Amino acid sequence: MKPLLIANWKMNFTELEVTRFLERFLELIGDQPRATILVSPSFPSLRTAVTTLRKTGVGVVAQDLFPEEQGAFTGAVSAAMLAAVGCSHVLVGHSERRKFWGEDDALIRRKLIAALKHGLRPVLCIGETAVQRREGQTRGVVVGQLRQILDGVALGEDAGLTIAYEPVWAIGTGDSASPEQAQEVHAWIRTCLEEIVSAPPAETIPILYGGSVTAQTAGTLLAQPTIEGLLVGSASLEPGSFAAICASIPGAP
Ligand code: PGA
Repeated sequence: MKPLLIANWKMNFTELEVTRFLERFLELIGDQPRATILVSPSFPSLRTAVTTLRKTGVGVVAQDLFPEEQGAFTGAVSAAMLAAVGCSHVLVGHSERRKFWGEDDALIRRKLIAALKHGLRPVLCIGETAVQRREGQTRGVVVGQLRQILDGVALGEDAGLTIAYEPVWAIGTGDSASPEQAQEVHAWIRTCLEEIVSAPPAETIPILYGGSVTAQTAGTLLAQPTIEGLLVGSASLEPGSFAAICASIPGAP
């Protein structure tokens, strides 16, 4: 499986800035068959990104969705709308959504099910806070989140699901998890997936790491056998920096 590299742009970039970023980024990465690359503009720039990236192999991921089909939900965007605009993936459960919008596992579960129903591939973000890690609760927290959100969800033949382990204390802090810390949690996640996902085989679900990844740390993280890709925030906001991350895949020329 090729590593999956996702730029999480959060609330950055106007439509024009997205176009400029992508033009420069595409020049820099050239032909990148070694990785699957996705970028996540805000809703107003999704269409532009899809159009600019057509035939490039780089895909577009939305940052959020609302689980209802349609109706009186002011400000919300549905899975069907995102699929129609050409997104292939959608982030669900990012810790900033939990923090600033009060999202809980029950809502995240509904979002994930809505995404799958409309053929969008959810990228499910899970992770512990600094306090939870300090108190030795990391395994319980990530396994608990997985169970609350995924237990009993029908995934279909092609799971279409990606997990992103994003320790909350590592997001936007410059304090990345070490490769060993990430590996340890990835192994717990893999074991849990094997317990709760019957079909398709749990090993087809990629597990990414996210949290203060930089061009300097990406290669070492990706060299770990259990880290199958990266979700990159701050270091994806500059074309040169994200291109450098894309070039840091072990074995890349
Ligand atoms: P960061 O963000 O790389 O800036 O830590 C990662 C994320 O929130 O997905």
